[in-house]
Amino acid sequence: DGAPSPAKCSSGAVPQKRGVVPEGADYRERFVKVYDRLRDELVADDSCELTDEARRWVAQMIDYNVPGGKLNRGMSVIDSYLLLKQGSEVTEDEFFLACVLGWCMEWFQACALLLDDIMDDSHTRRDRICWYKRPEVGLAGINDGILLKCHIARLIKKYFREKPYYTDIAELWTGVALQTSHGQMLDLISTRNGAHNLTKYSIEGYQRIVKYKTSYYSFYLPVASALLLTGAKLDNFSGLRDILVEMGVYFQAQDDYLDCFADPSTTGKIGTDIEDHKCSWLIVQALGQADCNQIEVLQNCYGKKDSSSVSKVKSTYSALDLKGIFSEFEDRAYKNLVASIEAQQDPAVQEILKSFLKKIHRRKK
Ligand code: FPP
Ligand code: MG
Repeated sequence: DGAPSPAKCSSGAVPQKRGVVPEGADYRERFVKVYDRLRDELVADDSCELTDEARRWVAQMIDYNVPGGKLNRGMSVIDSYLLLKQGSEVTEDEFFLACVLGWCMEWFQACALLLDDIMDDSHTRRDRICWYKRPEVGLAGINDGILLKCHIARLIKKYFREKPYYTDIAELWTGVALQTSHGQMLDLISTRNGAHNLTKYSIEGYQRIVKYKTSYYSFYLPVASALLLTGAKLDNFSGLRDILVEMGVYFQAQDDYLDCFADPSTTGKIGTDIEDHKCSWLIVQALGQADCNQIEVLQNCYGKKDSSSVSKVKSTYSALDLKGIFSEFEDRAYKNLVASIEAQQDPAVQEILKSFLKKIHRRKK
């Protein structure tokens, strides 16, 4: 852009401006370091008369549930923010605020997964037993989930109260929490209806569930948060939002595929979609392809916990070549998304979307 490059020191290193995050720094490492501070601040909260024992519980609960994931959602706030700021300096303070919102993403994810595992009767998550499965936790885990959700509002208030975009951030996070809970409700209602009549599952119903339970929080929320940090208004980015929501639907279809076909030692969780009678991408496709005999097998075996029923569902999936159908779906989804991304005007927006797509395309976990 014609700007002079920074002068080199005699050692050859580029001198660093104080209080400015150097370009090419290890952003992930910096992000990870912020976790301890946020956890300690929440544990030290003096707004309630927490006993030492309660503080130990909160610390242990956060440590078990929040930091052990892939950190994709948290890092996507940082990545998006840096792409939007390209060409201008990012101060240490600004970077820290992006990290706070990145960690709020991880807190949100922890809350959603902790509660979802109770509802889905899951066994393992992130290569460990689910929090609620620990003997000392059980259904007390529900309160821990609520606590994680409360922590997010607390962090946002603490760090953004004075910012001109505080109301926008607070409303964004509340709105997405509502969408996610509604999505989970759609998931649970459709599971109940599908258990009465499997053929009720449809691709439109599926898309509605996953748009709300997954897309908004996993894809739109981190980018929208980064936009607000730069001072942008979200009304001008509805095209971006729609592409991110579409990407989230593709991502959840992958999650459903992996639930059945991936090795639990790769995903860190044992799939339960067949046993739970879930309206998963696979069953919707199978119903669209199956003949009368295969439909009968699915109707008799889907949603049953015994391993022979589960095997019969899996054999039907194999007979219908759902692996091949999924692979074609992936190619189509990828091509459609690339076309939508290339139609975007703003180069930074294009870059953000491309980096998301690259991270998820043909993912194995
Ligand atoms: C995992 O789906 C679950 C979700 C994507 C959302 C769960 C949402 C809630 C429990 C509502 C919580 C509300 C807030 C505000 C956080 P899955 O069961 O298909 O995925 P899995 O295979 O990882 O279990
Ligand atoms: Mg689940």
